[in-house]
Amino acid sequence: MSEGFDQVIAYHQRTKHQPQAMAPGPGGLDWSNQPDPFRSYEAATQIMLKRQGFFPPAREGSGEETQNELIRHSPLNMESLSQLFFESLAISGQKSLANSRWSLRVNPSSGNLHPTECYLIAGPVAALPPGVYHYAPKSHALELLAKMEEESWQALHLPGGTLLLVFSSIYWRESWKYGERAFRYSMLDVGHALAAVAVAAHCLGWQASLEDDPGTEDLTKLLGLEEQSRFSHYDLEEEHADVLLAIFTDGRRHQLSLHSSHLSQLKLQREPVRANILSLQHVPWTWIDLVSEAAKKPPTSYVYSASFSSPGTGRAQTDLASIYSRLLRLRRSAQVMDGRSSMPLPSFFAILRAAMPSAPPFGLLPWKPCVHPVIFVHRVEGLEKGLYIWLRDATQKEELKAAMLEDFVWERPSRTPQDLELYLLAQGDSRLAAKETSCRQDIASDGCFAAAMLSQFEEPLQKYGPWYYSRLFWECGMIGQAFYLAGEAAGFQGCGIGCFFDDIVHRMLGLSGWKYQDMYHFTSGRALPDPRLIDLPAYD
Ligand SMILES: Cc1cc2nc3c(=O)[nH]c(=O)nc-3n(C[C@H](O)[C@H](O)[C@H](O)COP(=O)(O)O)c2cc1C
Repeated sequence: MSEGFDQVIAYHQRTKHQPQAMAPGPGGLDWSNQPDPFRSYEAATQIMLKRQGFFPPAREGSGEETQNELIRHSPLNMESLSQLFFESLAISGQKSLANSRWSLRVNPSSGNLHPTECYLIAGPVAALPPGVYHYAPKSHALELLAKMEEESWQALHLPGGTLLLVFSSIYWRESWKYGERAFRYSMLDVGHALAAVAVAAHCLGWQASLEDDPGTEDLTKLLGLEEQSRFSHYDLEEEHADVLLAIFTDGRRHQLSLHSSHLSQLKLQREPVRANILSLQHVPWTWIDLVSEAAKKPPTSYVYSASFSSPGTGRAQTDLASIYSRLLRLRRSAQVMDGRSSMPLPSFFAILRAAMPSAPPFGLLPWKPCVHPVIFVHRVEGLEKGLYIWLRDATQKEELKAAMLEDFVWERPSRTPQDLELYLLAQGDSRLAAKETSCRQDIASDGCFAAAMLSQFEEPLQKYGPWYYSRLFWECGMIGQAFYLAGEAAGFQGCGIGCFFDDIVHRMLGLSGWKYQDMYHFTSGRALPDPRLIDLPAYD
């Protein structure tokens, strides 16, 4: 096995929280060095985007019947481009308590630390010249980093109106608080951001597709992240390119062949910009550097054999877009669950269905599903309390069954719709198990259900390479985002749970070795508001 593979395994093992020993962390919070959650490029030309969502705030979440009012195909212009960002990565609110005030965004983030940055590469859009731009959520603006020769963009032969988005991560924002486990959190956050953008695109009648042929270095160069002169703290606040997303604004799904060599042909003229300093001092986390290096993706060509499942365009998808378009900016993480509400069965099924591989955000993934939520059902009407598994790919059932405890019953609950591969594993009250395995957090036991996202691990890493490690987290993050949104649509709230005791879950399920790993937790239920917090508008 390659050195990179061993490094990924070693990192994953040493960053498991155990009840007696948490993964290596900073041991306290150095508030004077908290990294700025907002990157900005000083001296960059700023193109202000419109601070306007799909609906005026008064009608967000109103549920008024305006079917298809929005969910027609939107043409690409500055309004729709502004909406794409405003409904996915912008600030969506501020909270204040005593003398402190903080902003929250449309996309969630572990610890609200927001390691994910987003860049736009686009040909001319109305008055926007072709170029590479950084999206700045704080001002909801695009910052011009490089002008692009239009002919070189045209030479890519992309379908008219295609936008390219590149996501990157600043691990230091997470490691400041979470230490070594921060690489995992950063990758989960990328998954949430990918889904957030893809859902907003879907609401505009657009399609998203993850273009995974280029390698990490190609994306780094495209963004200019390797240019040391752009960063005052280059080594310490290094930003790592993650993934390229194509958005087809003609509303059709295209199969691109966007290779590494195509990106390098883009003729860019860099602007003399300088990234802001995020914090004055830094704590090095060697293992994050090691795993990040090991998980760098080389350029590949058509590496995935699975053909993508294009998301449906039928009535169900239109309805979903119509519902989501009102609530994307209203999503919030639950901090405390009420511990008593129960969830109607149709709502539970709707939440699962939102994370099916054929549901809108998942159409962007070019690989076969690897992640299957194990579900602790606490209070879902018409469903026995107990431990369940929901298979997002039915073909993996026998393998999973063989790997897990023999005692599991693998019974399909009687009212389960045919298209949901949901199985009861063991009946009983699983609240304590959910809480204990989620670092003893009450939100895991006080919701209506909690989930542990079980992922295929060793096999895909061997098949594709250690770079696939990040992708497993992206898939988990996307499932989390779908759970958040579908939960809100059903009148419930969710919360991602990055703190969990990995190996306790494995033991509970009878799993050993590296075939499967638990990679993310989630809880869904009725949240209790915190009366001490004051809500403030997103932008002053
Ligand atoms: C990957 C990830 C892991 C998280 N882990 C936890 C957790 O273990 N416990 C918790 O209470 N909240 C957790 N959260 C919720 C965040 O704290 C929350 O997203 C953040 O404070 C921003 O609030 P918002 O989601 O309302 O925008 C997690 C969120 C994400 C995306």
